[in-house]
Amino acid sequence: MKKIALFTSGGDSPGMNACIRAVVRSGIFKGLEVTGITHGYEGMIEGKFIPMKSESVSGIIQRGGTILKTARSKRFMTAEGMKLAYENLSREKIDGVIAIGGDGTFRGALEFNRTYDIPFIGIPGTIDNDLVGTDFTLGFDTAINTVVEAVDKIRDTAASHDRLFFVEVMGRDAGSIALLSGISVGAEAILIPETKTHVDRLINTLKKGWHRNKTSMIVIVAEGEEAGGAYQIAELVKKQFTSIETRVTVLGHIQRGGNPTCNDRVLASRLGVAAVEAMMEGRREVMAGLINNEISFTPFSQAVKQHIINQNLLKIAEILSL
Ligand code: F6P
Repeated sequence: MKKIALFTSGGDSPGMNACIRAVVRSGIFKGLEVTGITHGYEGMIEGKFIPMKSESVSGIIQRGGTILKTARSKRFMTAEGMKLAYENLSREKIDGVIAIGGDGTFRGALEFNRTYDIPFIGIPGTIDNDLVGTDFTLGFDTAINTVVEAVDKIRDTAASHDRLFFVEVMGRDAGSIALLSGISVGAEAILIPETKTHVDRLINTLKKGWHRNKTSMIVIVAEGEEAGGAYQIAELVKKQFTSIETRVTVLGHIQRGGNPTCNDRVLASRLGVAAVEAMMEGRREVMAGLINNEISFTPFSQAVKQHIINQNLLKIAEILSL
């Protein structure tokens, strides 16, 4: 193993830069040549390779986003796209690739490795926290703290006006962001894709709270929730709960930006170093993750499976929102 490449792919997440820094510097420390590929799989197809030196990653540990840029590539999922990517990797004499991204990124790597023999190691980089094989994905901690800061502010105005707010958060088809941030802001209800939404029950809970003189109410709605998001749920609730004024806030991409938290920077550093070591040990098609604060490796085929929501946290959320 002489030369490795790394890239970021899918939705960006805070901590990706810290992780790029860790991969580059630990690669150089181990005597490897490190090349960055910009714009994810798209850049691999188009041959966008840039040599990375130790100083290429100076001053980035604290920055959100990704200096290598990112993209969601449809082309890579075609035979033609993969062939071009392979030709470029071969021309650059790349012996192994480190991919920082989410489930789509690892599915792409799996598909590529069916035909082409260049080892891939994955690092979970997504705010969604929806991968099997790691307690936390890179960027999740920063994202939930962004949500908490925003919803605390919404709580101030909600309480001043005696209003009910529906706040929609990201997560695609996973409810991790909603669940953790919902508990942290003392949400009156949390609606996530992993559990069935009973609108009647929700209205009942909200009405009960109102009659107990609550001065504000916040419902956190995961974007992948079955009714279709905060606006849809708010409409259904408003029809039967007319005595309260309601508002909807969709937090959107603010959740993907910002300086990574200390937890995300440390996670990024640990996973970056672990991925380089794994590559040198000859591992392939595995994702480096953290389970119970220990580094662990999970095959891509497992990592992309349905992430299971923590049932204890669900219970806690329910008990404490009463
Ligand atoms: O996977 C990260 C994520 O932010 C999801 O939570 C969200 O559904 C999606 O990406 C949004 O993607 P885009 O920025 O491409 O619209």
